[in-house]
Order: sequence, then C-alpha cells, then structure tokens
Amino acid sequence: MSYQSSLLAVGIEFDDPALEATVRDGLQVIESALRAAVHSEDEFVADVARYLVDAGGKRFRPLLALLAAQFGNADSDGVVMSAVVCELTHLATLYHDDVMDEATVRRGATAANTRWTNTIAILTGDFLFARASDILADLGPEAVRIQARCFERLVTGQIRETVGPRPGVDPVDHYLSVLADKTGSLIATSAEFGARFAGVDEQTVSCLRDFGEQFGMAFQISDDILDIASDSGQSGKTPGTDLREGVQTLPVLYALQATDPAGSRLRELISKPLQDDGEHAEALALLRSSEAIQQARHTMLQYAESARATISGLPDVPAKAALQAMADLVVVRSG
Ligand code: IPE
Ligand code: IPE
Ligand code: MG
Ligand code: MG
Repeated sequence: MSYQSSLLAVGIEFDDPALEATVRDGLQVIESALRAAVHSEDEFVADVARYLVDAGGKRFRPLLALLAAQFGNADSDGVVMSAVVCELTHLATLYHDDVMDEATVRRGATAANTRWTNTIAILTGDFLFARASDILADLGPEAVRIQARCFERLVTGQIRETVGPRPGVDPVDHYLSVLADKTGSLIATSAEFGARFAGVDEQTVSCLRDFGEQFGMAFQISDDILDIASDSGQSGKTPGTDLREGVQTLPVLYALQATDPAGSRLRELISKPLQDDGEHAEALALLRSSEAIQQARHTMLQYAESARATISGLPDVPAKAALQAMADLVVVRSG
C-alpha cells in the first residue's frame, strides 16, 4: 500500500452520497483556510510552516468536526474555523513531536527537524500555535478555554510519556492514560468543536466528544501497531522509530509483561533503546509475530467498539454511519 494522504482516499465508506459531497466541500474550504492560516509575510517562516501542510496528512480531525456538526446545523459559523484550529494544533504538535522523537520522516517527507534544525521545528510549532490562538480569539472565550484545556492535556500526556510511570504504577495503565491525554484529547475536542458550533444539544456534544476520545485511543494504538508492523510506504513515517527511541508502546509493554520462555530474547532486546541496526531488526521481527502485538490489537478493538457504543443512541443521521465506519477503519488499517 502506498502512503495515502487523505482519509477519504484511504477508504472511509460513505453510504450517503449527499453527505460525502458535503464533507468533500467542507474539507476543501478547510484546506483553503488552513493554507491562509499558515501564511507569513516572512518567506522563510511561510515555507517552513506550510511544509507539513503540503506534505499531506489525513485531515481526520477536521473530518471528525465536520461529521459531528452534521448532528446540528452544519453550516453554522465557527464549524469550519474550529476545525482549522484543530488541524493547526495537530500540525504544531507534529513539529514538536518529531523533535522529541528524533524522527526523520513525517507525512512521507523529511521531518522538519531533520530538513532544517530542532530550533526551527520547535519555533515553527510555536508559530502554528500562535495562529491557532488568533483564530480562537474570533471564536470566543469558551472556544479558547476548550482548546487551552485540550492543549494542557496533550502536553501533559507528552510529558508523562517522556517521564514514564511512577514507581508502583502499572506501566500499561500509565501508557493508556498517556494516550488519552496526548491523542484522545485533541480528537475529542475536534468532535466537540464541530458539534458545539453547530448548536448541538449538550448531551449529544458529550457523546460525540466521548466518541472522539475513545476513537483517538484506538487510533493511537493502531499507530503504535503500524510503527511495528508496517512498511514506511504505508504510514509515511519510518517504521520502528518508537523502538529505536526506547518509547515503550503498548505492544512492547505487553511483551515485557509476558513470562513465556520463548519471549525472553525479545524482552532482553526491548528493555532498552535499540540503536544497533541488527538488534533493531531482530526485535521488530520478533514483535511482529508475538502474542503481544495480538494483545495490542485486541485492546485497540475494545476502544473502537467503545467508540461505536458511545454514539449508538444518537439519531440515525448519515454522519452516524460515517463515524461508525471511521471506527471500523482504524481497526482494519492495522489489523
Ligand atoms: C499522527 O496523527 C499523530 C498521532 C496522534 C498518532 P495522524 O496519523 O492523524 O497524522 P496525519 O495528520 O495523518 O499526518
Ligand atoms: C503523537 O505521538 C502524539 C502527538 C503528536 C501529540 P507519537 O509520537 O506516537 O506519533 P507519531 O507516531 O510520531 O505520529
Ligand atoms: Mg512521534
Ligand atoms: Mg511521540
């Protein structure tokens, strides 16, 4: 499979052609607004800031906002610009995350930290946060607060991932709570913004928010599985990056908890960062065929099912089927 840059292209099923046309139009408007938002009078800043926008990306946070808005008045003011805020926030965290993870490839392109420097990548991330704040100011104080609290959770999650579990805390529990914060938070906010700006009632906003959080968990676990199981063409990133950096993702944590004698070589390898190419390849191969990766797939499935369940009671508008299809797709892409 080659690197696909749009979730629509990746194959989300829309049973309803009218919804599909609406969503495509909405995403186009968002794309133009996103490009305007990353523009700078300074040519260099403009080049670096639009670099990852140009490189691709699935845009599924804006997509989620558009789908959540379908439960209310989807044409309302604020739906599109709040979706732009979510993608800008996401983009900014990607610039920062690749510095933290010393990543070399992102969205099928050389990562910004590698193409330029860590300093440039960090400051460009900050520039994008500034642009998100500028748009938020027009969306009102409640939107500013929602995004601020989301961002607080996201950053706290990234810090807690870096620091690792406190003594006595189960590493899997720690990891899952990190995922909720670093990934679930923004995906939940994307759904919340779309719904809230479309004037959806509080109870439905809350269901859609919960959907985003659970879906985000499933999504991040699938990302962790892909880091082990995919080739770089599929993900647009370098496989095995987590392992090389010693980031203990869910499959690795499950493998470390196992006690079977056959897993002892794998446990020995993955208990430290794997800089040696031979050891890295050996660990990747062992993980790919391990019980632990199946266990991670099972956990991912549980979150995807939980996401589906949170919206099962909502009215049967076509967007509900599209959200259910998104939850299914996340499982299939790394299954
Ligand atoms: C990557 O997110 C970061 C994670 C939360 C796993 P995406 O997989 O949505 O990245 P893009 O936007 O498609 O590049
Ligand atoms: C991404 O975390 C989460 C955020 C950017 C907040 P990862 O480090 O797991 O994501 P990838 O695999 O680099 O996209
Ligand atoms: Mg990363
Ligand atoms: Mg990271």
